[in-house]
Amino acid sequence: MKTRVTDMLGIAYPIVQGGLARVAKAELCAAVSEAGGLGQIATAGLDISQSGGADALRAEIRRCRALTQKPFGVNFPLGRMDITAMLEVALEEGVPVIALTAGNPAPWIKRINGAAKTLVLIAGPELAKKAEAAGADMVATVGYEGGGHLGRSDETTFVMVPRVVRAVSIPVLASGGIANGAGLLAALSLGAEGVEMGTRFVATQEAQAHANYKQAILDAGPSGTMIIKRSLGMPGRALASAYARQIVARETAGAPAEELVPMIAGSVNAIATDEGRMEEGFAWAGQCAGLIDEVLPAGEVVRRMVAEAQSGMARLHGAFAGP
Ligand SMILES: Cc1cc2nc3c(=O)[nH]c(=O)nc-3n(C[C@H](O)[C@H](O)[C@H](O)COP(=O)(O)O)c2cc1C
Repeated sequence: MKTRVTDMLGIAYPIVQGGLARVAKAELCAAVSEAGGLGQIATAGLDISQSGGADALRAEIRRCRALTQKPFGVNFPLGRMDITAMLEVALEEGVPVIALTAGNPAPWIKRINGAAKTLVLIAGPELAKKAEAAGADMVATVGYEGGGHLGRSDETTFVMVPRVVRAVSIPVLASGGIANGAGLLAALSLGAEGVEMGTRFVATQEAQAHANYKQAILDAGPSGTMIIKRSLGMPGRALASAYARQIVARETAGAPAEELVPMIAGSVNAIATDEGRMEEGFAWAGQCAGLIDEVLPAGEVVRRMVAEAQSGMARLHGAFAGP
C-alpha cells in the first residue's frame, strides 16, 4: 500500500498503533512495526519519578530496538506531565516519529525541528489547522467512537475525517472506531491516508494489559463503553464498570474537580488495566470493542487488516463493474 503516510514514515501499511497509556510498551510497539505498521511506545504510565522518565523511556526504546529495526514512534501526552527530559531522550535515541497529544504542540515541534516526523492527535478541523500551522507533518483525528480521550464536540469519525481532510493539506490519519480492514478501506475512501487504532491493539497478545481487560473488550459489545470526565472538560471513553458509573454519578451530582481528579488518577486506571479488577477501576476502550472477538498477536491484526482491505477492494470493484 502507498499513501503519503507510508512514504513519510517508511512503513509498508498505513496502520498506526495509537499511544496507549500503560499498555503500549516495547513488545507491542515492535510487533506492530515488524508487521509493517507503525508501533508506538506510550510515555503515559512510564515511571517518571526518576530522571523525569528519561531512564524508563530510554530502556523502553532500547528494548524496542532489540526487537525490530523498523521505524516506530513515541507518544507524548502534553499538559499532564513535564515531557522535557523524555523528549530529549527520544531525540538522542533517534526515534523517527514523535506523536504529540492533549496540549499545544507548537513549542515541542519547534524543539524537534525536523529531527523526527511529528504526528499530532487532534479532534476536528480547527485543531488540525493549528497543528498544521505549528509545522506538524501529519495529524490523526479522533472521532467520538474512539477509546481514551476525545474531543469535546461528540463528532463521529465518519463526519470528522472528511472535514479535517478538507481543512488541511498535510496527511490525515482516521482514528476512532477502526478495528478491521473494512474500517481501513472506509478511512481511505473518506480521504484519510491511514488509520490510527487503540482498542484493537489492547486486545493483542503483546499489549501490556491484564487478561481480564482484554477479555472485557471482547465481552463489551458496542454499547459496553461510556464517557467519563466530561465535567472536567476532558471526555474519555472507557469500558462501562461499576467504578466508571460511580465517576459519572458524581459528575452528574456536580462534584468539584478536587473530588473528581483523585477518582481518575493513573493508580485507579491501573487497578483495572494492570490488576484486572475491572469493576473497581476504569480502563479505556472504544465502541469498536463491538468488532473485536479474539485476542490476536498484534502482527496478525495488521496482516488480517491488509488482507480484508484487499478483498474488500475487490468486492467494491465488482460492485462498480456492473453485470
Ligand atoms: C487504553 C488506551 C490508552 C490510550 N492512551 C493514549 C495515550 O497515552 N496517548 C494518546 O495519544 N492516545 C491514547 N489513547 C487513544 C488512542 O491512541 C487512539 O487515538 C484511540 O484509541 C482510537 O480509537 P479506537 O480505540 O476506537 O481505535 C488511548 C486509547 C486507549 C484505548
